[in-house]
Amino acid sequence: MQNKVYNYSAGPAVLPQEVLAKIQTELFNYEGMGMSVMEISHRSKPCIALFDETEALLRKLMGISEQYSVLFMQGGARLQFAAVPLNLFGQNRKADYIHTGSWTKYAIAEANKAGQAVIVASGEEDGFCKIPDLSEMKVSDDADYIYLCTNNTIEGTAIRPTQIPVTPLPLVADMSSNILSEEYDVEQFGLIFAGAQKNMGIAGVTVVVIRNDLLERSPKNIADMLNYKLMHSKQSMLNTPPVFAVYVLNKVLKWVEENGGVAQMAVRNKEKAALLYDFIDNSSLYQNNIEDSDRSLMNVIFNLPDAEEDTRFAKEAEKNGLMFLKGHRDVGGIRASIYNAAPIEQVQALIEFMKKYEAGR
Ligand SMILES: Cc1ncc(COP(=O)(O)O)c(C=O)c1O
Repeated sequence: MQNKVYNYSAGPAVLPQEVLAKIQTELFNYEGMGMSVMEISHRSKPCIALFDETEALLRKLMGISEQYSVLFMQGGARLQFAAVPLNLFGQNRKADYIHTGSWTKYAIAEANKAGQAVIVASGEEDGFCKIPDLSEMKVSDDADYIYLCTNNTIEGTAIRPTQIPVTPLPLVADMSSNILSEEYDVEQFGLIFAGAQKNMGIAGVTVVVIRNDLLERSPKNIADMLNYKLMHSKQSMLNTPPVFAVYVLNKVLKWVEENGGVAQMAVRNKEKAALLYDFIDNSSLYQNNIEDSDRSLMNVIFNLPDAEEDTRFAKEAEKNGLMFLKGHRDVGGIRASIYNAAPIEQVQALIEFMKKYEAGR
């Protein structure tokens, strides 16, 4: 059965139809075990094989070398805002943060609980509608790492692969909303984390890719469930892991591979985003004031002339089967999330609706 609507939610987000269909066929009998994957022990061979295969798929798709470890953690991307400083702070308890929106604000707040977050570049004065100039950035001599978010889900901006700053400090990236959408060079990062529920599956599992030398920083006096070194030594199975979320992640990764890998995802994502931004730029009703080079491929935000009309537009869209277009409550407006699993038809359908709405005003 195909979905009858298009889902523009920022997360949990659209899944590939093929993945949903596959899950349905396997639901009652996983790998011939006569029961569902949700019911099997995480200590069982099929479950351990599932985790190993999922890690191998991620390594292949992202080009993750043996210098890095892959962890499957819980608590969402948001728990990583705390886990990163708690694990990576050294004696100075200090890190540099690039502040690009709501999600970095929350990350900065968590780091400040454990030590000091120094804001070395900020888009706040520009209302976060552009990425600050990172070439001018002065990093602290004594910082333990530098932190950024590659895709600002709420503000609709991104730090694209060519804009990643080169720094001697370990670079930590929140890639929750654009992992696997474009080819980032993992070697440029010390740590990457991403919640799965946007581009990789469902809520419940958060992927952490960490350079092996950084594992040695994890202190013993933090909660075990947050401890990267311990999680790594237990193959991400310190407690009962979110097996079903990892299973869905596995299916999504296979789908990405079957559809040409991250390189092909990037081709499709650029095409989809260009179509929508071009339409917006040529329209007199819809507005997006983010600089071209800083625009997100995943979350396209735009405004109508006032908040009341934004609401009317989103409501009308829902009546036409275009769901969850309302912008985040912090910024208002309209947000169309067009992750990997959103087909180009989903963008075309939105543009057709935008034309129809404008004509009917
Ligand atoms: C960029 C970014 N970071 C972090 C989060 C928080 O994710 P979670 O709900 O998994 O904690 C989100 C969620 O929308 C996000 O978009």
